[in-house]
Amino acid sequence: MSEGRDKKGGAAAVSGNPRAEELLAKMDELRQAERLSVARGVGSFMAHELGTPLQVIQVRAMMLVSGEVTGEAAVKSAKSIVEQTARMTSILNEMLAVVRRNGEAGAVDLLEVAKAAMELASVGARARKVRVELDPSSGSAHVTGERTKLLQVMLNLIANGVQASEEGGTVHLATRTVLRSPRYDPKGPPEKLASVEVRDAGCGIPKELFQQIFKPFFTTREAGDGAGLGLAIAHSIVKDYGGWIDVESDVGKGSRFTVYLPRGAT
Ligand SMILES: Nc1ncnc2c1ncn2[C@@H]1O[C@H](COP(=O)(O)OP(=O)(O)O)[C@@H](O)[C@H]1O
Ligand SMILES: [Mg+2]
Repeated sequence: MSEGRDKKGGAAAVSGNPRAEELLAKMDELRQAERLSVARGVGSFMAHELGTPLQVIQVRAMMLVSGEVTGEAAVKSAKSIVEQTARMTSILNEMLAVVRRNGEAGAVDLLEVAKAAMELASVGARARKVRVELDPSSGSAHVTGERTKLLQVMLNLIANGVQASEEGGTVHLATRTVLRSPRYDPKGPPEKLASVEVRDAGCGIPKELFQQIFKPFFTTREAGDGAGLGLAIAHSIVKDYGGWIDVESDVGKGSRFTVYLPRGAT
């Protein structure tokens, strides 16, 4: 059962409506499936990212043990082992943060999460010959939330951008603090908000589908290619945090999804 649903008492609110109950149960099941697919991505990322430093460490250590290198060369080998181990430790910490299920909500910098999301998504993107890049104009954008969930929002948006892109395309990420009127009061005084933008120059989305795409199970992909839950999950997480997602898109030109969230403690 999903944590958002527990907190909000969603199940209670729909009790008595078997279809809604069934849909929520299905949502939970599919959220679970999304988690699995994140876990699979993490698995291939780990095999890829940890394999190389491990090999370096093994070769260097063998050179030391065999006495093949001595003096300054030995120190160099030892330093390389220290560096590679540090790299592996930071990768493992990253993985832990992804895999932990019910993290505490806390102060999170969207810039830091965007960097992690980029790295995680880049393995799958590379397979499709698409690049994922962070706009150099990106800056810190602090919010209060659960890091894993915010990471999931970004991963879902990036995955869509990658899927929409042609070979050789680039998905851009940007994190910012922006001044904007709140969505419920578009003429109201602008507030400082944290934002993350994911844009692609891919196939684009017809205007008449803008409302549909956030609905659970809405997908234009072939059976088995997408459950139609990526945006529904992203939307439900962002909404839980008091934010919203804007979409701009032109068919044939590309799409821009912008997540707005209230700013949290820095
Ligand atoms: N960046 C994008 N470019 C083009 N179409 C998109 C993009 N993001 C979402 N879509 C459309 O929205 C639909 C729903 O997306 P999503 O909820 O992530 O489910 P899924 O990716 O499993 O289809 C997609 O099937 C696609 O038609
Ligand atoms: Mg998707």
